[in-house]
Amino acid sequence: MWPRRDLIDLLGIEHPIVQAPMGGESTPEMAIAVSNAGGLGGLGCSFMSLDELRAKAEAIRAGTNRPFNLNFFAHPEPREYAELDAATRARVAPFYAELGLESVPERGVAAVDTFTEAKLSVLLDIRPRVTSFHFGLPPRPMVEALHDAGNLILCSATTVAEARFLAEAGVDAIIAQGWEAGGHRGTFETSFEDFGVGTLALVPQVVDAVDVPVIAAGGIADGRGIAAAFALGASGVQMGTAFLSCPEANIGDDHRAALRQARDDETRLTRAFSGRPARAQNSRYIEAMAEDRAALPDFPTMYGFSDPLREVSEKRGDSDFQFLLYGQAAALNRDLPAAELMERLIDEAQRALKPGS
Ligand SMILES: Cc1cc2nc3c(=O)[nH]c(=O)nc-3n(C[C@H](O)[C@H](O)[C@H](O)COP(=O)(O)O)c2cc1C
Repeated sequence: MWPRRDLIDLLGIEHPIVQAPMGGESTPEMAIAVSNAGGLGGLGCSFMSLDELRAKAEAIRAGTNRPFNLNFFAHPEPREYAELDAATRARVAPFYAELGLESVPERGVAAVDTFTEAKLSVLLDIRPRVTSFHFGLPPRPMVEALHDAGNLILCSATTVAEARFLAEAGVDAIIAQGWEAGGHRGTFETSFEDFGVGTLALVPQVVDAVDVPVIAAGGIADGRGIAAAFALGASGVQMGTAFLSCPEANIGDDHRAALRQARDDETRLTRAFSGRPARAQNSRYIEAMAEDRAALPDFPTMYGFSDPLREVSEKRGDSDFQFLLYGQAAALNRDLPAAELMERLIDEAQRALKPGS
């Protein structure tokens, strides 16, 4: 049924569709629906407390006996630059004044953490079939501990060099994340400002460079995209934006409305919310912060300066300071429950992959 089976067999799934684990936006309900439909459902766990992580993972386990994926950021500790913090405070201060907020925090506390020993021990307890990482890998002993416990490990690469690094580090499959992708770029080795490689160029080069299965990600929204990924040599796809329109997605009304009206040319990469580049709908705040390409505090420190602005904007329902993450193919989204979306995707891909279609 599928032209390449290495990923399907490795993960123990039926269809080579990985639902992208998305920080605040994916939910246990979404992951359960996708895994039960034969794909790999997943949950972005980076913003969760340990208790929440355990409770949500147990909820997925109760909802499906199929494999699922828990996902974590693996970023380095942010550096402390008092001068950069001060310069950033000065840059955002006019926006705070405009929104009637009190003074900019000295150094905000971000609600996101890197992969820690405590998270590892929860995972060793829960034992999902798959753990995936973004922004590189955690230290080698942690990767080994997960492998020893029977976990398969996936990680995003945005260049051939990153893919080679991950393959050498023992990752079981590589997510080749193209420039079109919604959300944060997984970049961990190269400069991310100027060297974005698109999915069409990245996937076949990664396939040629590594011996593990490659999962194509970025701008894949329907069966045509899935078939194209296979034509490029991928063994599966990871799709995020397409699942954002599902009722199971944890997004606000403004985000949902933006997806319904999305265009191909309205997103851009920005570091203005988190400190790391992410693809989101362009906005007045993003424009202003991009003007002089000035340095910003490391991920996740920057959240501390941008969160209060985002929160007011969300309450007011204006989009000037909202962080509306989605990719370049969002206009192809369908408002369907995740199980139905899976059915459509599988059917469309099968048709597109048929000889003579
Ligand atoms: C709203 C949103 C949140 C995301 N959060 C995460 C995350 O927490 N971890 C992760 O590995 N990838 C995350 N991603 C990136 C996806 O894994 C994937 O690379 C991307 O969605 C693929 O491109 P597409 O959005 O065009 O399908 C996110 C993507 C979106 C759209």
